[in-house]
Amino acid sequence: MSYIRWTTSALLGALVLACFAQAPAKKGQAAVSKKDYGKTAGGAAVDLYTLTTAAGMKAEIITYGGALVSLTAPDKSGSYGDVILGMDNIKGYETPVPYFGALIGRYGNRIGKAQFALDGKTYKLPANDGPNTLHGGIKGFDKRIWSAKPGTGASLELTYVSKDGEEGFPGTLSAKVVYTLTDKNELTIDYTATTDKSTVVNLTNHAYFNLAGPGEGTILGHEVMINADRFTPVDATLIPTGELKAVKGTPFDFTKSTAIGARIDHADEQLKFGKGYDHNWVLNRSGGALSKAAEVREPKTGRVMEVWTTEPGLQFYTGNFLDGSLKGKGKTFQHRGAFCMETQHYPDSPNKPNFPSTTLKPGQTYKTSTVYRFSAK
Ligand code: GLA
Repeated sequence: MSYIRWTTSALLGALVLACFAQAPAKKGQAAVSKKDYGKTAGGAAVDLYTLTTAAGMKAEIITYGGALVSLTAPDKSGSYGDVILGMDNIKGYETPVPYFGALIGRYGNRIGKAQFALDGKTYKLPANDGPNTLHGGIKGFDKRIWSAKPGTGASLELTYVSKDGEEGFPGTLSAKVVYTLTDKNELTIDYTATTDKSTVVNLTNHAYFNLAGPGEGTILGHEVMINADRFTPVDATLIPTGELKAVKGTPFDFTKSTAIGARIDHADEQLKFGKGYDHNWVLNRSGGALSKAAEVREPKTGRVMEVWTTEPGLQFYTGNFLDGSLKGKGKTFQHRGAFCMETQHYPDSPNKPNFPSTTLKPGQTYKTSTVYRFSAK
C-alpha cells in the first residue's frame, strides 16, 4: 500500500517536473519553444524555434536565413509528416544549400545584368547567377541572422535590418516576417518592410516541398494546378523577355490539374532554358486580397497543399538543379526531388516598366501575405 502511494507521488512529481521542463509545449495547445542550434563558421549564435498547433502541426525555423527546417502536414490517414527538404545542422545550411526553406531578399528571383535604374540612378549589384543577380546577391537575406520573437499562439516574428548599400541595394530596409501555424493546418507568412530611401523589394520563402516526404523520390507524380492563364517566358539566362504569354497549348498550362512529369521533358525551348519548370506564372487575380494561386496533390499520401497569396506572381521551380549531392534528414535529395512555389512579384521587375512595380519609397509599407494550406484527399 505504502509502496503504491510512494510510486504514485513519485510519478506525480515526475509529471509536474516534466510539465515545467516542457512548458509551454503542452499537447493540445499552440506553443513556441526555442533551442540552441549552434554557431555559424563566423561564430554567430543560431537558434531553432519550434511552432506547434493544438492539432499537432509543427514547423521548425532557424534564425539563420529565417529558414523553415521542417514543416509537417497530415496525410489521408490523418498522420502528420514532414513535407520539406532541410539539413541537419548549421554546418549543413552553410554548405551552402540552394536556399532550402529560406527567406529570400532583398530581391527574390533575378535582376537582369545585375543592375537596375531607380530615380535616374543606376545601381550595380553583384552577379551571382551568370550575368544576373539571383535572390538578393552573394549574401542575401537567406544567409543573414534574423532576430526572433515568439508571437501569440504558434507564431514567430523575425526581423532583419538590411543596411543602405548592402549587396548594392539603396536604402536601409527594415524587414519583418511573421510565420504562423493555424488550427486549419495552414502556414501563413506575412511580410512587411519599410525603407529610408527609394529601393526595390521582393520577399519570398524558398521551401522545397515533397508532399510524400523529404527524400521520398521525385515530385514528377505530384498533380499541380496553377491559377494562371499566362506566364513570363525567359531568355537563356532565365530573365523574362517582358512578354506575358498565354499558357494555352503549351506545357505551361496547369489551369487543369496535371502531373508535373507529364510534359516536363517536352521539346520546348522554355523548358530547355529552365532545365524543366523554373518560371514565373502571372496569377489570375483581381484586387490585392488573398487569392488561390495553386493546388498540389500527392497521390500516394493524398496530401494536398493549396497556395494562397496577395502577390501577382508564382515562381514554380521543379528542383532541376538538385543532383543528389545534398543529403539531409537521413535522405538524399535527388534531381527533381522537390518543387518550390515562390510567391512574388515577377523576376526583373526593376528593369521591366510593364510589370507590376517593386519600388518601395520612404513612408510606404511593403506588405504581402502567403498561406500554404494543407489537407488530404
Ligand atoms: C530559384 C531559381 C532557380 C534556382 C533556385 C535555386 O527557384 O529560379 O533557378 O536558382 O532558386 O537553385
